[in-house]
Amino acid sequence: MSARPTEAAPPADPVPPRHAAARRYAEVRAHSLALAAPLSAEDQCIQSMPDASPVKWHLAHTSWFFEAVVLQPHAGGYRAFDPRFFYLFNSYYEALGPRHPRPRRGLLTRPALAEVHAYRVHVDQAMQDFLLQCDEATWATVQPLVTLGLNHEQQHQELILTDILHAFSCSPLLPAYQPADTPALRLATTVAPPRWLDMPGGLAQAGHPGGAGGAFAFDNETPRHDLMLAPYRIADRLVTCGEYAQFIADGGYRRPALWLSDGWAAVQAGGWEAPAYWLAPGDPRAPARHWQVFGLHGVRPLDPAAPVSQLSFYEAAAYSEWAGARLPTEFEWELAHAAPGITQMAGHVWQWTRSSYDPYPGFRPLAGAVGEYNGKFMVGQLVLRGGSVATPPGHTRATYRNFFPPAARWQFSGIRLAKDASC
Ligand SMILES: [Fe+2]
Repeated sequence: MSARPTEAAPPADPVPPRHAAARRYAEVRAHSLALAAPLSAEDQCIQSMPDASPVKWHLAHTSWFFEAVVLQPHAGGYRAFDPRFFYLFNSYYEALGPRHPRPRRGLLTRPALAEVHAYRVHVDQAMQDFLLQCDEATWATVQPLVTLGLNHEQQHQELILTDILHAFSCSPLLPAYQPADTPALRLATTVAPPRWLDMPGGLAQAGHPGGAGGAFAFDNETPRHDLMLAPYRIADRLVTCGEYAQFIADGGYRRPALWLSDGWAAVQAGGWEAPAYWLAPGDPRAPARHWQVFGLHGVRPLDPAAPVSQLSFYEAAAYSEWAGARLPTEFEWELAHAAPGITQMAGHVWQWTRSSYDPYPGFRPLAGAVGEYNGKFMVGQLVLRGGSVATPPGHTRATYRNFFPPAARWQFSGIRLAKDASC
């Protein structure tokens, strides 16, 4: 009996791009609802400050994005769930019409949460049908917009967490978003002493290459461009709560020489004495003899080994001055992203950089209404790099640029130190 060569199994059919997109769409959309699930309807309606939005608004606005950017202009015959929602849930897109004022989003007790859920179902069904049935030319046009919409939804998933945490921080009860034994959103700890990594500098490139067929990036990460860096040193890990507590104990919040002028003014105006969600010993909301930290798991004893978080740029800069160092530029951070020995570059806290949020040389916003997504905010803000414990896994990359005003303290934002090579 002669041996016959074993026939190779035929390769499995790759998932068609449209089906993959539809599956990805369903996954991302479901995660938003999962994040909101621990919250009551009352929780989801509250707006604790103009910079933060109600969870219910996030759930509706992310649906509006698909409706306004994909379905309305590209899906012929699409019927809006409620035309009034175009006014209620537009965020800042001038090209897409007038909108409800941002500071008044917490006044939207109507539509009720159940109606917002029905809105999501309506948009999801229309999107699934559209993704699988539109013609090829339409698919080629909308595919980048769908990808943008999903990354947009992930950004709002992070805001769902940071905004409800701010709202809860305003409650005398200091509620916990999740039970204390839920590990997914807990900041990791480190016990190793910090080390300085030497970076050579020189001619380098930063930014995302972009381009059709490449991995997704926001327009503000492009174009990839040349730059020159002087040799520098960067810390192999983040600054910890224990280290930051030493800064406080050394009078860090009482020494104007450590602070930028605007930062010192913010300290005085806000009465800042510690990161935003730290509770001093004896705080009447949760009396204890030691520092405590309020987070997604409620009030917990300060963990000296956890990365310090909920800091403004001003505090990060003052701490750096106190520590005899400085913040890295966003390019120093990016070039060190994969340096041997570096740790905690993503998934812990966003890391303030000393870089203003500016366009890269040759930057061009996206065409159409989505051109308003990033470019028009490129003034008066600082770049943060990395990604936080609240960022959906896989959402960020080495070139990702987050940005916030220098006084913002409600994000999971912290410190990685840098130095000139000569220091
Ligand atoms: Fe948005």
